[in-house]
Amino acid sequence: MDPKGQRVKLNDGHFIPVLGFGTAETKEVLKSEALEVTKFAIEVGFRHVDSAYLYQNEEQVGQAIRSKIADGTVKRQDIFYTSKLWCTFLRPELVRPALEKSLKNLQLDYVDLYIIHFPLAMKPGEELFPKDENGKLMVDSVDLCHTWEALEKCKDAGLTKSIGVSNFNHKQLEKILNKPGLKYKPVCNQVECHPYLIQSKLLDFCKSHDIVLVAYGSLGSQRIKGWVNLNHPVLLEDPVLCAIAKKHKQTPALVVLRYQIQRGVVVLAKSYNKKRIKENIKVFDFELTPEDMKTIDGLNRNIRYNEILFGAGHPEFPFSEEY
Ligand SMILES: NC(=O)c1ccc[n+]([C@@H]2O[C@H](COP(=O)([O-])OP(=O)(O)OC[C@H]3O[C@@H](n4cnc5c(N)ncnc54)[C@H](OP(=O)(O)O)[C@@H]3O)[C@@H](O)[C@H]2O)c1
Repeated sequence: MDPKGQRVKLNDGHFIPVLGFGTAETKEVLKSEALEVTKFAIEVGFRHVDSAYLYQNEEQVGQAIRSKIADGTVKRQDIFYTSKLWCTFLRPELVRPALEKSLKNLQLDYVDLYIIHFPLAMKPGEELFPKDENGKLMVDSVDLCHTWEALEKCKDAGLTKSIGVSNFNHKQLEKILNKPGLKYKPVCNQVECHPYLIQSKLLDFCKSHDIVLVAYGSLGSQRIKGWVNLNHPVLLEDPVLCAIAKKHKQTPALVVLRYQIQRGVVVLAKSYNKKRIKENIKVFDFELTPEDMKTIDGLNRNIRYNEILFGAGHPEFPFSEEY
């Protein structure tokens, strides 16, 4: 932790703010608000912004970052921006052009972190989810170690400061870590993580290799049919979390964000609502007790909201492994 306690050092020497602003909006009508909410998030103190080619908002998010630099609120080096390599660009020769496309949309010279969004290679082309005439996802066969070498080259070229992965299980991480001639280790693995899916084994594995676990869906995910399993209980309505929140005069949302930071996890919080964006930055204003932490650990029930159903059947589908 740095003195402010708000950033952690990555294994390549760069620092990542422990709280990130998630920009993925699943409601079509709200997507156009990415510019406004990202600007607002920076104004209230967020310094880490998470997006992806998939979210199709990098133009607006980049514009928000540039406008907050232009008006003197921040300098470029104060902002930690993450983008993600989409599944149709995992062939090594497509990696750099994909990052360059994101940079062009963002109108930035570099990103701070570029991560493989999923270990699920799909047929290259314009379609985000390429399907055959029977509606079946068209997968591609790519050695993820070769994709990784292309990411290493992007880091060397200065297009990204750090490189990492997302939605990898420990075996897929191990494959990269054991790759002959590995130049850079992944700095992070971004995965779903919250009190109903505490990921202790994957977290221990990551910590033992100096890889930061970045939590998405930390507030219980956006409950959108087809993407999230709506039969699962609503995280922020959990009575135990509500009682801990009440005891600290905080909200359940702040409790689940604080929980991650105290266990050494970098946490993303998505909101397109100004009141809640402002609320989420207050995660630094209180502390959970060791007993609270233990109680929250006890809520784990291995509930994965984001089942990534589009990837079921893919040879690299990550969630068939225990962790
Ligand atoms: N790598 C991956 O595969 C992957 C997958 C999913 C997400 N992500 C990243 O992680 C980010 C966060 O994950 P997520 O989008 O699934 O959602 P999340 O952070 O779990 O948030 C879920 C919902 O909680 C609501 N919320 C936010 N603050 C709140 C508060 N203080 N009180 C009550 N409700 C609150 C938000 O709704 P309102 O907007 O209405 O406030 C939001 O839609 C994404 O935006 C994206 O950047 C990555």
